[in-house]
Amino acid sequence: MGKYDFDRYIDRHGTNCKKTDLLQERFGRTDLLPLWIADMDFAVCPAITEALVKRLGGHPIYGYTPVYDSYWQSIIDWQRRHYGWEVKREELTYQSGGVTAFGMVINFFTRPGDRIVIQTPVYYDFKDTIDGGDRITVENPLRPTPDGFFEMDLEGLERIFAEERPKMMVLCNPQNPIGIVWEPEVLREVARLARKYGVIVFSDEVFADLTLFGHRHTPMATVSDDARAVTITCGAPGKTFNIAGFKSTWLIITNEELRRPFYRWVEVNELQNSNIVALLATETAYRCGDEWLAECISYLEGNVDYVVNFCRERLPEIVAIKPQATYLLWLDCRGLGLDHDGVIDFFVNEAHLALNEGSMYGAPGRCHMRLNIATPRAVLEQAMKQLEAAVERRRH
Ligand SMILES: Cc1ncc(COP(=O)(O)O)c(C=O)c1O
Repeated sequence: MGKYDFDRYIDRHGTNCKKTDLLQERFGRTDLLPLWIADMDFAVCPAITEALVKRLGGHPIYGYTPVYDSYWQSIIDWQRRHYGWEVKREELTYQSGGVTAFGMVINFFTRPGDRIVIQTPVYYDFKDTIDGGDRITVENPLRPTPDGFFEMDLEGLERIFAEERPKMMVLCNPQNPIGIVWEPEVLREVARLARKYGVIVFSDEVFADLTLFGHRHTPMATVSDDARAVTITCGAPGKTFNIAGFKSTWLIITNEELRRPFYRWVEVNELQNSNIVALLATETAYRCGDEWLAECISYLEGNVDYVVNFCRERLPEIVAIKPQATYLLWLDCRGLGLDHDGVIDFFVNEAHLALNEGSMYGAPGRCHMRLNIATPRAVLEQAMKQLEAAVERRRH
């Protein structure tokens, strides 16, 4: 065993935890294993807890806290150390959450009626935010490949850019829910097209640090001059270090023409304000978390392999697509022979498992489910046991 214990089960019920305490509201019953929403069931790196306890317990005043230099520097150092990306202080701003940041960007750079491209299946809040702000979502679905994975439809993207004239596109990099790590050549082509057609690329990189099995994340903004000109990068320690509840997110915009007016608007409206907890947890994670993260990734890889192999060997009705990043597994459940509502009902009422249902991620997600494997192995083993028993009952 390593230094950190990812096998330890920590009961989250009754802690106002969305994953465990909204089961009745979201799934209609409480006797389910919670394997939905994207946070992890692991204790955070102890250095984060220690830093928070020391500050919150050691000094009883929690007043306004400006975003301080060592916080910015910790992001700059992290990007340099992990991705070789030299980020400048002025290119950064703080935002309280990835979806919030996306909303701010949309509100500033587009108008109601403007088109914004997403590539389905993809994280559902993009579409919700676009549609909710009276912009128009245009979908460029990912293309299945003969080897059972997915690729970007670059021809489809150019057609949409040329014909529909969108103002913006969302790049989910790495991609949730399939867990695709985009290759630099693909990113370069996206950037070339975006610049040619005047499209801003919102590159959501909140899963960047959780690449698996030797895959390497490439920040969109680093691939070319085109990319530097068109990209707004959104990143966070939230997924990486399981501190998503602190709503600590940063943006990087390298193009001064995009950055200057937007950051001014952000500042005037005080949308970049942060707090003691978010700043301290972020800086501590980025400074002290490398070893914890390496162990966490290795544990996640073991969990991915366990589920993928289990399905392959014992549940041929369900194909678990092996991700290159994230802790999310995209399950193709078409082999169950049920319609989409039937698949949902099967998972909840027969297998007693709470997963995200696939159509949230767009039409290609019908008859798919998203499984969060960031939980102790014993929980996953129990989940697979319940799933196998439910499938077995259907076979007879
Ligand atoms: C790709 C992606 N972006 C953004 C978010 C949301 O981030 P936040 O909770 O900071 O709004 C998520 C959450 O699951 C996500 O998967």
